[in-house]
Amino acid sequence: MLFTLALLGVALLLAYRFYHNIYTYWARKGVPHERPLPLIGNLKGIGTKYHFRDVNQRIYDKFKGKAPFAGMFMFLKPTALITDLDLIKQVLIKDFHYFQDRGAFNNVRDDPLTGHLLTLEGEEWKSMRQKLTPVFTSGKMKNMAGVVVDVGHRLADAMDKEVEAAKVEEGDVEIKDLCARFTTDVIGSCAFGLECYSLQDPNAEFRQKGRMIFEKPRHSAAVQLFILTNGKLAKKLRMKVLRDDLSNFFLSAVKNTIDYRLKNGVKRNDFIDLLIELRAEDQEAVKKGNGIDLSHGLTLEQMAAQAFVFFVAGFETSSSTMAFCLYELALQPDIQEKVRDEINRVLQGGEMTYDALAEMTYLDQVLAETLRKHPIVSQLLREANQTYKVPNTEFVIEKGTTVAIPVHNIHHNADLYPDPEKFDPSRFEPEEIKSRHPFSYLPFGDGPRNCIGLRFGKMQAKIGIVSLLQRFKFGTSKLTEIPLTLDPRSPTLGTKYGIHLKVERI
Ligand code: HEM
Ligand SMILES: *[C@@H]1O[C@H](CO)[C@@H](O)[C@H](O)[C@H]1NC(C)=O
Repeated sequence: MLFTLALLGVALLLAYRFYHNIYTYWARKGVPHERPLPLIGNLKGIGTKYHFRDVNQRIYDKFKGKAPFAGMFMFLKPTALITDLDLIKQVLIKDFHYFQDRGAFNNVRDDPLTGHLLTLEGEEWKSMRQKLTPVFTSGKMKNMAGVVVDVGHRLADAMDKEVEAAKVEEGDVEIKDLCARFTTDVIGSCAFGLECYSLQDPNAEFRQKGRMIFEKPRHSAAVQLFILTNGKLAKKLRMKVLRDDLSNFFLSAVKNTIDYRLKNGVKRNDFIDLLIELRAEDQEAVKKGNGIDLSHGLTLEQMAAQAFVFFVAGFETSSSTMAFCLYELALQPDIQEKVRDEINRVLQGGEMTYDALAEMTYLDQVLAETLRKHPIVSQLLREANQTYKVPNTEFVIEKGTTVAIPVHNIHHNADLYPDPEKFDPSRFEPEEIKSRHPFSYLPFGDGPRNCIGLRFGKMQAKIGIVSLLQRFKFGTSKLTEIPLTLDPRSPTLGTKYGIHLKVERI
């Protein structure tokens, strides 16, 4: 008994020393920091009461202008939250070679679809990024625009049905799900080569699976956040993030499409075609006996993982952007009318094209302001792969430290954007943009590891919005929330109760 008690005492002491050692890290370095709590670090209330942007807001407000970065802890992980825009530029661009990786979780061995561009590191990431870059050029976007325009017509038809059904409810339509069905069909078609029909059928299989990724994760919000912020540890513990049924579904979807295309010689100029080309190249290398370099995306699982990330990173981000945009336009009918006028002036009743989109400069401003006010990815993450001396200071960011860039909080800083809660597309007139610090706007990140799908994301969001604005007028209904309630559990910027608007045919 006494022995057990003594053991327990020693264990407690060791645990205390362990946590004490971890959590005094920033204090020992003399870095301005927030005091952490055991285990949770500075993320108290995350996923239940607070979203990441709320946690960061408190720290950002406390340290901005006073220190180039603030020390904090995401659970056990020391994290440097950068508040200074010049330092952000150093990290994302000038000193990128220190900060190439995100330190995000991947566990290819147990969870094959996690080995994708967003999470790969080091040389593996570099070669995969190089291989995938050519598929996202504006030339390729132009080729794919036709597919997106077609799905846009189906989006407007689906909206028409919703409007018909909504007559009984005084015109109220929940638009977020509809937008997600649109981007699901677009990306399903471009990344998986499949007609998903989720616009016609809200419960189509692809849409259900897509919904599950975000709404029925494998773990609770706390565990998910732990994995997100302590990727290396989670990998050692051999944790998984994807549900097995989801993994199997996406793996077989890709496998079937590839088999079909190879067998029937089908080519569609989409993401899947490029992945097939990568595979073929490396098969040659294998035959010549050069060995297999696993970083070259040659296995079926690696191909499936890339298609999967196009889907995950592409459908929710773009559909949320569309929905937030329509929401803001519903609240400000004069801006809505101005966008519609521009659309009608450019198209003159004709069909939409990639070139026509480029002429819609006001629409571009409206989308930019949407992502300023509602950045779907609320913070950017990087991890120092070697110790970094912070320029013009005494501080260092040590190897293995996470670097967080609080995009949402920068976008809502009144010194950069006066009256930040106001939706005002004139903020993105060329002179206005020039007058701001270039790193005050980061909805797609920046530098060599920025969003690879930026052009595609903007294109599909714009085509979707144009298709809807041509045929429908948006306003507020009894169910429209002002302001919107955000879901603290959502890893991106998501609303808790969807987005309800009054929609009428024009
Ligand atoms: C409006 C829509 C979108 C938004 C707001 C968005 C935002 C972002 C952001 C903030 C990042 C991190 C950048 C950084 O760390 O510097 C990112 C990365 C990424 N996005 Fe997007 N994205 C969008 C659409 C898309 C689409 C449509 C695709 C694919 C078809 C895509 C694929 C990716 C991938 C693969 C990465 C990881 C890139 C890498 O690590 O090399 N995104 N996105
Ligand atoms: C850190 O990443 C850069 C960029 O890939 C690389 O050149 C460098 O060798 C890495 N350093 C270490 C210590 O791994």
